[in-house]
Amino acid sequence: MHSTDSERLNTKARAIKEALSRIGEPISEAQAKNIAAQEDCECKDGMFALAATRRQIFAGSGLVAAVGMTVMLPRAAGAKAPAGAVEYPVEDDSTKEQGRMMGVDGGYGSRSQFESEVRWTNPTKSAGFSPLQNSYGTLTPSGLHYERHHGGIPNIDPARHSLVIHGMVDRPIKYSLADLKRFPTLSRTYFLECSGTTGSEIMKAREPTVQRTHGLVSTSEWTGVPLSTLLKQTGLKPGAAWVLAEGADAAVMTRSVPIDKCMSDALIVFAQNGEAMRPEQGYPMRLFLPGWEGNISIKWLRRLEISDKPYYTREETSKYTDLITTTGKSRIFTFTMDAKSVITFPSGEMKLPGAGFYEITGLAWSGRGKIARVEVSTDGGKSWNLASLQDPVLAISQTRFRFPWIWDGTSAVIQSRATDETGYSQPTHQQLIAERGPLETGSLFYHMNAVQSWSIAADGNVKNAHPLG
Ligand code: CO
Repeated sequence: MHSTDSERLNTKARAIKEALSRIGEPISEAQAKNIAAQEDCECKDGMFALAATRRQIFAGSGLVAAVGMTVMLPRAAGAKAPAGAVEYPVEDDSTKEQGRMMGVDGGYGSRSQFESEVRWTNPTKSAGFSPLQNSYGTLTPSGLHYERHHGGIPNIDPARHSLVIHGMVDRPIKYSLADLKRFPTLSRTYFLECSGTTGSEIMKAREPTVQRTHGLVSTSEWTGVPLSTLLKQTGLKPGAAWVLAEGADAAVMTRSVPIDKCMSDALIVFAQNGEAMRPEQGYPMRLFLPGWEGNISIKWLRRLEISDKPYYTREETSKYTDLITTTGKSRIFTFTMDAKSVITFPSGEMKLPGAGFYEITGLAWSGRGKIARVEVSTDGGKSWNLASLQDPVLAISQTRFRFPWIWDGTSAVIQSRATDETGYSQPTHQQLIAERGPLETGSLFYHMNAVQSWSIAADGNVKNAHPLG
């Protein structure tokens, strides 16, 4: 490269660096602490009033639109259609009538009224499970992405939300969503998994379907700003080692994150699958720590406080630690989700119509990188065969595997076993219990990634099966 070109590029790089440093509002450490304390109540006061105003506006514009559109208006809209769909009349012969006008949906599409897959919400209303049994490919639709909340879903007006970075930094800074969007961004397809997924399955088969056993894992394309970019703006004081991430939800969810993760692949995400992130995923902004247990990717992120030590918050002491029941000690800061897989078809509560060809398919993922291979057994683990993997196989993302199978109509147990690029293979239940002791009744076994078995009876009924009987 000519020296003049190189000089020009250096000048440009310097100019960009300089411009980035001017984004956001420099504040003092004292102001940062005030903002964090004040926003708690301001946000809650304003939240309901603003939400009501918006509803009124939408209701009004809906009426105006209805006047000229009577004929094409959805029949009993919202009353009969499944969630996410609008009920429209069904033509006797769709080739003899004009189809409905574009735009009657208000400009935001909906799925077919004949499709009804929804998240399954647990009785305590704290988790929504993705319907993996009818999933295709590798991406989870945003409306079916799993949910796990510790204090409900806050309704946050982005105009009133900010992210404050302070503590052991040279320059505490407050960023609005608009500020955040001005930085260079990245899009990455990553899975996210709750560390409690399948935790109740360690000692025996408890849940009937793959949605309820494995449904707290999903994959989206996430877009945001590398956290390292923001930490370069604030600077880090010598000794900075941990970051307290705090959410603006009613639980004020907090976790301690090692600074190395923050400076490597951590993102501050504001978009999911090509549009603004869903409220239940942390709108308007969340922390995203690729490959790590879901709860540490703090949603509705409002504050990052840099420190020289972890904070030992409730969610990393009383919860999200792994009890070794044989010693009474616990593992703490177990962040990475190890390799795991599950067959989604056929799976629990399905019924195969009869002997013949079936494509066994499922999902595999690892928080440590790419999936190297998935093996499938149709004889309860006596023999294993390589499944084919859907390209492209992405790191820290779900990979679809497929295995052609001719069922002979006799009882069978089907299983999948994932191995990631580090060489780590999914363990058995027995191996996990040997490592961490048997589970006490009522406790949750975090990081439960054992090989899942589905039994198929001669009549075609598929059931959740457990190797310990
Ligand atoms: Co953990």
